[in-house]
Amino acid sequence: MKMGMVTHSASAIAHPNIAFIKYWGNRDNTLRLPANGSISMNLEGLETHTRVEFEGSFSTDELWINGRHADEAGVTRASRMLDEVRQLAGIRLFARVESQNNFPLAAGIASSASGFAALALAASHACGVELDEAGLSRLARHGSGSACRSIPGGFVEWMTGMGDEDSYAVSIAPPRSWDLVDCIVLVSIDPKTTGSSLGHSLAGTSPLQPVRVEDTPRRLAICRKAIMDRDFSGLASIVEEDSNLMHAVMMTSRPPLFYWQPATFLVMQAVREARAQGLQACYTVDAGPNVHVLCEGAIRQETVKFLESLPGVQEVRQAETGGPARVVDSSPAGPHS
Ligand code: DP6
Repeated sequence: MKMGMVTHSASAIAHPNIAFIKYWGNRDNTLRLPANGSISMNLEGLETHTRVEFEGSFSTDELWINGRHADEAGVTRASRMLDEVRQLAGIRLFARVESQNNFPLAAGIASSASGFAALALAASHACGVELDEAGLSRLARHGSGSACRSIPGGFVEWMTGMGDEDSYAVSIAPPRSWDLVDCIVLVSIDPKTTGSSLGHSLAGTSPLQPVRVEDTPRRLAICRKAIMDRDFSGLASIVEEDSNLMHAVMMTSRPPLFYWQPATFLVMQAVREARAQGLQACYTVDAGPNVHVLCEGAIRQETVKFLESLPGVQEVRQAETGGPARVVDSSPAGPHS
C-alpha cells in the first residue's frame, strides 16, 4: 500500500416514495427549495442499495448504476453531492459509487429519490460526517427534491421551509400505522420524455401554478388528517385532486408537458368508476405514464386483479409502506461489488 493511501467506505439502502401531495416547481432550482410542501409514503420492497468508497488512489469520481457506467450528467449530479460531503468532512478524495436498484429503471418508478437518499447516507457515513435525520434529508434534497422524503420512514412530509436550513422532510406516521398498498400499474416502460428537473423549471410558466401553490396548505391538511384518521375516502378525494392539479399545471406549461398516455387515462377512469361501485381505491400519477393505485391491504388482491384485467396494463407491482433509509454492512450485488 502506498504511503498516505486512505480509504473510507459505507453502504446504505433507501426506498423510493410515492407522493400523495406532489412537489412540482421550485422557488430555487439549484438548492431545490420547493414551491410547495408535499406528503409521500415510502415504498417497501423497492430499494436502491449504494456503496460509496473514497480512496486516495482514485483520480476522478466514478458512478456505476446497475453494473454500468452512468452517463456524464449522472456523474456530475452525484459529484455535486460528493463535493458537499467532502467539504463537510474536510477531505479531497475521489469516490467510486456503486448503486443497484431492485426495480427496473425504465419501469417508471422514480429512482432519483431512493438513489440520492442512499447516496447521501452512504457518502456521509463513509467519511464519518455525523448528520441527524434533518441534515441527511437536506443533503438528499440537494441531489433530488423528492429524495429528502426517502430519508425518514413511513408517511413523510417535506416542510417547504424558509430557506436551505429548514427545508427537509419528517416522518408524520410510522410505516405500520396504516396498512396501505401502492399498486404500481405499468402501462409503458419507455423512458420519459421530459425529466422532472426540467419539468420543475417550467412549472412557473403555467398560469395555474400560483393557484395550485396557494391552495397547497388546504390539501396538505386534508391529507395529513386522512393519514392520522386512516380515512381512506378522505385520502382518495385529495390524492386524486392533487394529482389532477399537478397535471393541469404540466399541461399548461410553456411548452406544455403531457405525461399521460391513452392507457394512463383509461386506468384513472376505471379506478374512479370502480370506486363509485364500492372498490376503495384511488389513483395518483407522477411525471410519467404509469399509474399508482392506492388501497388498503385488506382489498389488495381484489384491486390488483381488477387492474390486471384492464386493457393496456402490462404489469402491476405492489408495495407496502416502507421504513427509513439505513446504513447496511453488505455491498450491493453486481459485477463491481
Ligand atoms: C412528479 O424529485 O424527481 O414525482 O428534484 O429535479 O430530482 P428533482 O425532481 P424530483 O420530482 C418529483 C416530481 C413528482 C412529484 C413528487 O414526487 O412529489
